[in-house]
Amino acid sequence: MQFMDSMAFLCLILSSILSLLIFNFIFLRTVHFRRRRLRLPPGNMGLPFVGETLQLISAYKTENPEPFIDDRVSKYGTVFTTHVFGEPTVFSADPETNRFILQNEGKLFESSYPGSISNLLGRHSLLLMRGSLHKRMHSLTMSFANSSIIRDHLLVDIDRLVRVSLQYWTGRVLLMEEAKKITFELQVKQLMSFDPCEWTENLMKEYMLVIEGFFTIPLSIFSTTYRRAIQARGKVAEALILVVRERRRESERGETKSDMLAALLDGDGGFSDEEIVDFLLALLVAGYETTSTIMTLAVKFLTETPLALAQLKEEHDEIRARKCELEALEWEDYKSMPFTQCVVNETLRVANIISGVFRRAMTDINIKGYTIPKGWKVFASFRAVHLSQDHFKDARSFNPWRWQSNSGVTSSVNVFNPFGGGPRRCPGYELARVELSVFLHHLVTRFSWLPAEEDKLVFFPTTRMQKRYPIIVQRRHVPKPCKEMEQSQQ
Ligand SMILES: *[C@@H]1O[C@H](CO)[C@@H](O)[C@H](O)[C@H]1NC(C)=O
Ligand SMILES: *[C@@H]1O[C@H](CO)[C@@H](O)[C@H](O)[C@H]1NC(C)=O
Repeated sequence: MQFMDSMAFLCLILSSILSLLIFNFIFLRTVHFRRRRLRLPPGNMGLPFVGETLQLISAYKTENPEPFIDDRVSKYGTVFTTHVFGEPTVFSADPETNRFILQNEGKLFESSYPGSISNLLGRHSLLLMRGSLHKRMHSLTMSFANSSIIRDHLLVDIDRLVRVSLQYWTGRVLLMEEAKKITFELQVKQLMSFDPCEWTENLMKEYMLVIEGFFTIPLSIFSTTYRRAIQARGKVAEALILVVRERRRESERGETKSDMLAALLDGDGGFSDEEIVDFLLALLVAGYETTSTIMTLAVKFLTETPLALAQLKEEHDEIRARKCELEALEWEDYKSMPFTQCVVNETLRVANIISGVFRRAMTDINIKGYTIPKGWKVFASFRAVHLSQDHFKDARSFNPWRWQSNSGVTSSVNVFNPFGGGPRRCPGYELARVELSVFLHHLVTRFSWLPAEEDKLVFFPTTRMQKRYPIIVQRRHVPKPCKEMEQSQQ
């Protein structure tokens, strides 16, 4: 019986692969035929079915951040055609084309993600929403994370939670793990007003399994990681639904909180519990991996650029000198970190956590003398632009000073899009900057550190440090305790 089952399964798989191959063969013939009529961007479709997927994957296993695109840009120019993850795709490494794609969101292009991702995120996530619902949710998120909200409400918790987390650091620290913990705690606080506790720790464990599945390659939906992720998603959703129900009861009793969940509950939307849970989960995904990776990479780049680290320390020591140990950072402090903002921009530019976005052409689109046929995938690569010598001098090195005079930014048009653009620009862009700045403040004023061992930055399937960037930390000096400050002021 068992044997029969697996045979049947095998046949099913084989026959679907076969039909995909046939379908692709016919499809590619059609493409070939249409190429004569439409002027497709130049490029290579690779093998039937797999296209250039294998080249893409193996290219990104190296330390070079842009091997796949570099290669093709030098052969075909900044807009080229390829065939990856089962579909013909136009890649753009051209800032004008990228801007055109982002600005025409919902008109000429729509966001498009593989089914494996929508299973994990839920149907109601921001990433998959379209049209007017997306607009409403996007502006709701924006109004929750805009700078006046951060200044008046979020900053105090960011400062406190980062400080508390760093208190426990001694000896060897896996920076990526610690950054993830901090980011998760911040998000749970901002979304649902929970302080770190056993409940949040358990939630984080399940949640990390969901994330693992999220970043498996779209084709590996038969993998254990993916199945485990789907199960974990169920558990996280269950836990969140209890929170949502409890909060509904609280608000019936007239108790209110001011967090994202409150905004979702009393918005005029009348969202269902399921919609709210999908939405919360998607916000967790959006902020978690990205912010924690950017924290880790900022530290890595600074470690490798001692002059920049020294200048950053000076800026933050000056701020700390005006305060005692437990005194919180305020908005004015954040606003007086000019060099930090250069470091933040440069980290975002070099790291490129979001390498670009996938869209689908809703109609035949003519751009720059080429046609992108209706239904085709488009990949707007921000990374290729950020790392191009045409737009940034000495583009592949970390040089925060380039932002001081803008002399290292050679383009006149806006080519810096670390958070995307258009109606789908990441609503958390300011929040991410503030969190990174506060993290750097507490880190450099409290610790000095050295890398514990060699580690490697890799870019596929996600940008990350292979060994999670282990460092050895050492306390720098004890900041002025608050009592002494009071006495010296008297
Ligand atoms: C931020 O959002 C709030 C509503 O949540 C709004 O009242 C305020 O004007 C917004 N501030 C900015 C700077 O956009
Ligand atoms: C950093 O980049 C943003 C665009 O995302 C820009 O508005 C800002 O001026 C830049 N900061 C510095 C210090 O150049």
